[in-house]
Amino acid sequence: MDIITQINTEKKPKHVAIIMDGNGRWAKQKGMLRVFGHRNGVKAVKQTVEAASEIGIEVLTLYAFSTENWNRPKTEVKALMKILVSSLKDELETFQQNNIRLQTIGQTQNLPKKAQKELLEVIELTKNNTSMVLNLALSYGSREEIVNTIKNISKKVVNKQLSIEEIDENIINNHLYTFTLPDVDFLIRTSGEKRISNFLLWQIAYAELYFTDVLWPDFRKEDFFKAILDYQCRERRFGKISEQIQNNND
Ligand code: IPE
Ligand code: IPE
Ligand code: MG
Repeated sequence: MDIITQINTEKKPKHVAIIMDGNGRWAKQKGMLRVFGHRNGVKAVKQTVEAASEIGIEVLTLYAFSTENWNRPKTEVKALMKILVSSLKDELETFQQNNIRLQTIGQTQNLPKKAQKELLEVIELTKNNTSMVLNLALSYGSREEIVNTIKNISKKVVNKQLSIEEIDENIINNHLYTFTLPDVDFLIRTSGEKRISNFLLWQIAYAELYFTDVLWPDFRKEDFFKAILDYQCRERRFGKISEQIQNNND
């Protein structure tokens, strides 16, 4: 049976986030340079975006480049930026066909001008699309995001636009880069690593976590659907007990 038909459309995660890891190891296994792995990661991105869109996921956040990734060899960073620009150009058609809106989180002002320009163009061209948000985390670090959030809230307190007593979880949510998005329901990390690597620390407070040994360039639609099926077997209790969840009690 086709794996997609096993998915329960009533029990889908709204917001799926993915740490796309393992490009370098994939290339090394093939005796190739790391950049070969990054280039082949693009196909996995396309498959995942299409798969998420096919089953009606509302938000897909992809960790594409972390604040810490700036510390990689210059040639690798340059190659990654080049791949970003060319894949944005190539994927525009997929976004339009599937009614996908692009947005970003992170310090995109630190990206090369060419990448910034391409991003702005695709964001503008897809801004009226309504079926799925594709949120790219670029030059993103969760701790940096939290620092930025605290600064912006503090400014409002100093300017008397906000009192300290008014600061609550909602106010913090509304000052994060993800302010327009729901919390992450499901976090996937490929390549067998079991860590968060400074990704959406606040937003994954109650996310279900899924780790697979598949290296990112090998990740295909079936792998995404398999992960979703795993999610659907979980019971999300949010601190309550199982009976309350089963009886739909508050
Ligand atoms: C993920 O693959 C891509 C980025 C972090 C940009 P890696 O490049 O981290 O691959 P590994 O972890 O070295 O195999
Ligand atoms: C996390 O992967 C960042 C992205 C996938 C963009 P890394 O490969 O950079 O993570 P660490 O450094 O191994 O934790
Ligand atoms: Mg890695």
